[in-house]
Amino acid sequence: MRYLPINNQLFVRNRERLASLLKPKSLVIVNANDILPTNADGTMAFRQNNDLFYLTGVDQEETRFLLFPEHPDPKFRAVLFLRETSELIEIWEGHKLTKAEAAQTTGLPESQIYWTHQFETIFAQLVFEAEHVYLNANEHTRADVQVQTQDARFIEQFRNRYPLHRLERLAPLMHNLRAIKQPEELPLLQTAIDTTDAMFRRLLGFVKPGVWEYEIEAEMMHEFLRRRSRGAAYNPIIASGANACVLHYIDNSAQCKDGDVILLDLGAEYANYNADMTRSIPVNGRFTPRQRAVYDAVLRVLRESSAMLKPGNLWDEYHREVGKVMESELIGLGLLDRDAVAAQDPDAPLYKKYFMHGTSHFLGLDVHDVGNKYRRMEPGMVFTVEPGIYIREEGLGIRLENNVVITETGNTDLMANIPIEADEIEELMNR
Ligand code: GLY
Ligand code: MN
Ligand code: MN
Repeated sequence: MRYLPINNQLFVRNRERLASLLKPKSLVIVNANDILPTNADGTMAFRQNNDLFYLTGVDQEETRFLLFPEHPDPKFRAVLFLRETSELIEIWEGHKLTKAEAAQTTGLPESQIYWTHQFETIFAQLVFEAEHVYLNANEHTRADVQVQTQDARFIEQFRNRYPLHRLERLAPLMHNLRAIKQPEELPLLQTAIDTTDAMFRRLLGFVKPGVWEYEIEAEMMHEFLRRRSRGAAYNPIIASGANACVLHYIDNSAQCKDGDVILLDLGAEYANYNADMTRSIPVNGRFTPRQRAVYDAVLRVLRESSAMLKPGNLWDEYHREVGKVMESELIGLGLLDRDAVAAQDPDAPLYKKYFMHGTSHFLGLDVHDVGNKYRRMEPGMVFTVEPGIYIREEGLGIRLENNVVITETGNTDLMANIPIEADEIEELMNR
């Protein structure tokens, strides 16, 4: 792997913490993601299933993990299946994990690691003893999955083969665990953020009138890749002028014009963890008074929103409060009328015309990470905070996005080092 080895105690403890949430005599089965096809014999790059990674640290295709904490035979309490290599695989694809390497990665004894072709034989000995079988599915509330995943295929096969077993949903338990970041996870996330910081500082010296959005993307990628990142955490949004008002603009094909602001929603991946940053900078290095007014309004909303990310707070209430702050900023900018706001339908607030997306989401192994929005905020949760104002009639869109971790008393801004004040941005661009 490109990233440095991870302390396997993270995965050992993740398994222990999952075990503590299971019903008696439970078996858990977690599968690797498929390698997805493109066209002809083309494939997409492999991206590990985040739950499998969280429980094992194994970042290789065709892996399967079984957890059965109360199995009468200790050697079946946690079992890993690996793709067995061959001379052909070594020649065409290169090195695959040996059992010894997988033992080091996972913290499992080598004797509990098998090849995938041994699955049926071993599995029979576990499934017979199990009263509850936890299977995995993508239950992210916003997921819209059209392909049949490895997990979905497994559920179908399992139901046919073992119709009398009681099935349980693994996803809520994984969401529960993954929402609270462990001490070993935060430095991984911080590495992704520090890589993003270095990239952004590089861009501040690079952006100028006439540069193309894709040239900025190339600079970004160069900085990410040279820092052990596999690349961008998500499709980068490099949106100058009016493009910034297209929320999911990823074409990045326009030339940046003197006098425009460019919105940069860019984050690095590191060891499967993701940074998610947005900055909006003036193409020529100086904001106009109007741009600066909108910029400072967004920054104030970010600051006030951040202050509300603290233990005990609830997601929906937080978003309602952010809406009020945004409302008053939009009135200040002359975009909303105070009387109209007073008379608005609370279910369709007027600020949505200029700020149409959520302010925060969980962040971690997934960019829009798993977690339950009805759970009160707790120390260890990591959120983005990302207000924006998009004024289509002015060809201006400004969003600012930082990542924070909730602490006992409030939160820590993991992006505190990344320039965000307009003066500092201008100063760095004109150095
Ligand atoms: N970059 C995706 C997001 O901000 O949610
Ligand atoms: Mn973002
Ligand atoms: Mn985000």
